[in-house]
Amino acid sequence: MGYGKNVHEILYGGDYNPEQWPDEVWREDMRLLKKAHINEVTLNVFSWAALQPDEDTYDFSKLDKIMELVREHGLKVCMATSTGAHPAWMARKYPDILRTEADGRKRKFGGRHNSCPNSPTYRKYAQRLAEKLAERYQDYENIVAWHVSNEYGGACYCENCEKAFRRWLKRKYKTLDEVNRSFNTSFWGHTFYDWEDIVLPSGLSEHIVFDGVEKTMFQGISLDYMRFMSDSILDCFCLEYDAIKKITPEIPITTNLMRLYKELDYFKWAKQMDFISWDNYPQPTSSAAETSFAHDLMRGIGGQNSFVLMEQTPSVTNWHPFNRLKRPGVMRLLSYQAAAHGADAIQFFQIRRSIGACEKYHGAVIDHAGREDTRVFREVTQLGEELSKLGDVFLEGRTPAQTAIVFDWDNWWALEYSAGPSVRMNYLDAVLDYYTACHALNIPVDVIGTEDELSPYKVVIAPLLYMVKSGYDAKIRRFTESGGTFVTTYFSGIVDEHDLVHPGGYPGMIKDILGIWVEEQDALAEGESNAFVYGEAEYPADVLCDIMHLEGAECISSYQRDFYQKTPVITRNFYGKGQAWYVGTRSDKAFYRALIGDIAEEAGVFGIMETPDDVEAAARTTEKGTVVFLLNHKETDETVILNTQYQELLTEKNYSRGSKITLPAKGVAVLVKPEG
Ligand code: GLA
Ligand code: ZN
Repeated sequence: MGYGKNVHEILYGGDYNPEQWPDEVWREDMRLLKKAHINEVTLNVFSWAALQPDEDTYDFSKLDKIMELVREHGLKVCMATSTGAHPAWMARKYPDILRTEADGRKRKFGGRHNSCPNSPTYRKYAQRLAEKLAERYQDYENIVAWHVSNEYGGACYCENCEKAFRRWLKRKYKTLDEVNRSFNTSFWGHTFYDWEDIVLPSGLSEHIVFDGVEKTMFQGISLDYMRFMSDSILDCFCLEYDAIKKITPEIPITTNLMRLYKELDYFKWAKQMDFISWDNYPQPTSSAAETSFAHDLMRGIGGQNSFVLMEQTPSVTNWHPFNRLKRPGVMRLLSYQAAAHGADAIQFFQIRRSIGACEKYHGAVIDHAGREDTRVFREVTQLGEELSKLGDVFLEGRTPAQTAIVFDWDNWWALEYSAGPSVRMNYLDAVLDYYTACHALNIPVDVIGTEDELSPYKVVIAPLLYMVKSGYDAKIRRFTESGGTFVTTYFSGIVDEHDLVHPGGYPGMIKDILGIWVEEQDALAEGESNAFVYGEAEYPADVLCDIMHLEGAECISSYQRDFYQKTPVITRNFYGKGQAWYVGTRSDKAFYRALIGDIAEEAGVFGIMETPDDVEAAARTTEKGTVVFLLNHKETDETVILNTQYQELLTEKNYSRGSKITLPAKGVAVLVKPEG
């Protein structure tokens, strides 16, 4: 829902830190923001030290002035609570607020995102600050949302966290016997006799590093620690959420997420947030598909509602090893890509570049020069003009997806914590293999969690579904039985939610749906590969080769080499009214594109439009109709033949069916079907 029912335009703005500047700069900023068509500012992200200079004093005088100023200038406010970094006095007086690293070192004051989530001090004062802010600013009708803390993340290994972990386990398992069973502690004689025997899993206890990848000797406890830490940090969000909700029940509350952030189970987080917002900082080398996937995941955790692009840089970051400028047009292109995948607001980090500390070389709308005649300011202004022209045309629009990709944090953690069969197995790579194929075919995708329904989709792809939680097999069974096409891959169906193997042969609970039995898995070294033929072409088999038997499925393709030559690698099983595919190895881009193309066609799923490679077509459907975005990610001009009659909203040009539209390098078109 983005900012929700009180906002009827695309909000455009971002993080603004006037507290770092004297008043006369504020006035100039207001003039510049108006000029750039900016209508929103995110305030108060890191001001805890100023707002609470000591234990008993709260001082809102500066923030009051800023709030008056921005209201006077007609700006909407996304109001942060400042709890992403604690004040120095608090760390001096209450060291429990400081985090402890996995190696046992206790941190000193410094940095940010630095508070122990189980610190009683942090919880008390963060909640209190949120409450005081809500009380003080509740009557500002221009506040469109609360932004709790900032980019929650990390982990803590202090004694408070250890005690809290034991309490968390007690709530989950009730008895120590059940803990021992779930962790399979009879292995290596790790039986716990007393709750106090349980310590946090880390390099000091169960963790080891294999070839640069952190592994654990007991997946059960490590998996639960990930869940516990994600929950602990989420509790901190909820404490502030509840404090604010009591006072301003109508104002939606969010916190800014970070795409594929492994440490936090965002599906769980999303349930506690009124809307999703996130920060998009693609690497200069990221593919268009990777960024689209991140948007689709962020939309997906929120139940496919629209979201807010809380931050992106207008030009450059400061934290990559070398910080390449976004080329002319790229900021605009990435903004429309976000909009095409569900963003209802486009915001920057940051409005004005600070003069000191580690972000002084991070891009901003207003640079150190303080001038409006810069490339970046001009690009920001142009986009601002365009967005205000578009009005509410795509707001709250849905992605018309008939294909879903399953994504699951528990599965991600468990798969990559397991020792064997290969450190080369990577969950994100596997997911992106399939997503990238859909993206290349302009097939809209919803990214769904394991609690989401499968019935809205014709095709469901669950790459590397290593963990099949209890009941999930039944969901897949129902979906396939009633006509759906289910696709999964090598090393799937192996374990339950405790990372205990489903005995009776792989892929465990979903064996019958797939009609196969996987007997062994062969891990291949970097540079080694097997091969198979699909359609007319030969493709590589890489990373892992599942060696399997048919138990009802048909063999679509077999291995070309090695002792398992001629045994199946790709299978299809007709199940009920549907079918279930198993792709027993990792292959290359061309293969995934061919396979997904065939599966989609057979299932009656179509792309938005045919486009040249690296020209993306994505759509959002509102009550009024469908908006199609064409995004040229290439360095060259590209031409698309339109599949129906359209009006392009930015140029107001009309196009007939079958006519050509030329997109300049990095160019964008926003198309709607003309009325009548
Ligand atoms: C994050 C933070 C911001 C800022 C930017 C810099 O997204 O939320 O405060 O540090 O990174 O890229
Ligand atoms: Zn801690």
